[in-house]
Amino acid sequence: MGPTEARYYDLFMDVILLGYYPRLIKKVVDKMDIQPGQSILDLGSGTGRNDIFIAQKIGPEGKILGLDISKEMLNSSRKRCQSYPNVEFREQRIEMPLTYQEEFDRVFISFALHGFEDAKKVGIISNAYHALKPGGVFCIFDYNEFDLERLWFPLRRAFIRGECQLALEFLKLNLKEMLSSQGFASFEEEIFLRGHLRLFKASK
Ligand SMILES: C[S@@+](CC[C@H](N)C(=O)[O-])C[C@H]1O[C@@H](n2cnc3c(N)ncnc32)[C@H](O)[C@@H]1O
Repeated sequence: MGPTEARYYDLFMDVILLGYYPRLIKKVVDKMDIQPGQSILDLGSGTGRNDIFIAQKIGPEGKILGLDISKEMLNSSRKRCQSYPNVEFREQRIEMPLTYQEEFDRVFISFALHGFEDAKKVGIISNAYHALKPGGVFCIFDYNEFDLERLWFPLRRAFIRGECQLALEFLKLNLKEMLSSQGFASFEEEIFLRGHLRLFKASK
């Protein structure tokens, strides 16, 4: 993501979701069953908008670590979360092997996984698995599996024009199989926006 896209990312999300994005992400975070004092790893943390909602759940005893590769995104998230001393952002590639071992209660990835090739998705999932404490949950908020052909024509056209080929392939991906291959065992899903978005929860 380039500097311009990073700068206007929040505005873009607000426009395409007609102002619904903050309420949507609040609902998603509510479904992650986050408790005060927990540790959360946010992969591809972007502008940190989601982390504000998470920070309110964990309270002062918890911690959030957000990872991103975009300097603009990191600047924006650090600025946004500056009043939360327990929220930290680091410049790190999420598909490369990470060193975090059994440190986090939740690993969250929102609207990032669909943009990686399958081998890199596996790398990210493996990182999430190792970073989670036993019993921890990997929470993936992204596109659900759906038939693009059944989408209302103007929306289908916007999706095809606005999204990358990998996102189109993600709509058919067997995510459960990929997560199982890296050790995740039990699964739950929450559906949003008429089945087009999904919070997929995989437990370690
Ligand atoms: C579509 S944005 C989503 C941001 C945020 N998770 C959200 O839901 O608002 C994807 C984010 O992933 C980051 N990203 C892309 N490739 C990455 C990589 N290899 N390692 C770490 N972050 C990456 C981008 O910089 C961007 O901030």
